[in-house]
Amino acid sequence: MKTTRGRFLTLEGVDGAGKSTHLEWAAEHLRQLGIPVLLTREPGGTPLGERLREILLSTPMALETEALLMFAARCEHLRTTIEPALAQGTWVVCDRFTDASFAYQGAGRELGTARIKALQQWVHPNLQPDRTWLFDLDLGTARQRMTGSRDLDRFEREDAAFFTRTRGAYHQLAQNEPSRFLVIDASQSIEAIRDELGVDLDRLARSSSIS
Ligand code: TMP
Repeated sequence: MKTTRGRFLTLEGVDGAGKSTHLEWAAEHLRQLGIPVLLTREPGGTPLGERLREILLSTPMALETEALLMFAARCEHLRTTIEPALAQGTWVVCDRFTDASFAYQGAGRELGTARIKALQQWVHPNLQPDRTWLFDLDLGTARQRMTGSRDLDRFEREDAAFFTRTRGAYHQLAQNEPSRFLVIDASQSIEAIRDELGVDLDRLARSSSIS
C-alpha cells in the first residue's frame, strides 16, 4: 500500500510573539487524531544543526555568512530528518523555516529577497510548507514578552527598526501566499489562539485523509 505523504507545518513570527508556547500543544493535538508527528525547529533539529544554532545565536558574523549557515543547517535538517519523515507519512511541525530567512536575513538584515530565493532554489526547490502559522504581534508587546525572562540572543538584541522590517516582510509573505498562511493575532489569550489552531488542524487532518 502506498503511504500518504505527511504534511509540513511551520510556525513563524517575530521574537516574543509567543509561537513556541503552542508547539507541543499542536503536536499533541495531532497525535490525539492518530497522526504521527515530528516536532522540530530551525535553526537546529539535527546534531549538526544544533551546533550551528549555537554559533548563529551567539557569534557576530557577516550577513552573508549568517544566511549561508541558516541554509546549511536547513539542508542537513531537510535531508536527514524532514524529507524522510514526510515520505514515511509523519507530519512535521517545525518552529521556523525559510520564511524566517526571508524575514530576518532578507529584510531585517537587508540582504534582499533575491539572495534568499537563490538559496531556497538550491536547497529546497520543490518543498514548501503546506501550512504556515504566522504569529503576529505589535513590536512593543513582543519586546515586553521577550525581556526580563532570560538573556537575549544575538537576534533578540536587535533594534526596533530591524523588527519593523522583519514583521513587514512576514506580512508581505502572508499576503503573497494567502492559502498557505494563517495569520494569528498573537495578542489574544492562549485559549483563544488554541481554539483557532485546533480548528485549522482538524481541517488539515480531514483534507489529508480525503486526498
Ligand atoms: P527561535 O528563537 O524562534 O528559536 O529562533 C532563533 C532565532 O533565529 C530567531 O531570532 C530568528 C532567527 N532565524 C533567522 O534569523 N533566520 C532563519 O532562517 C531562522 C530559521 C531563524
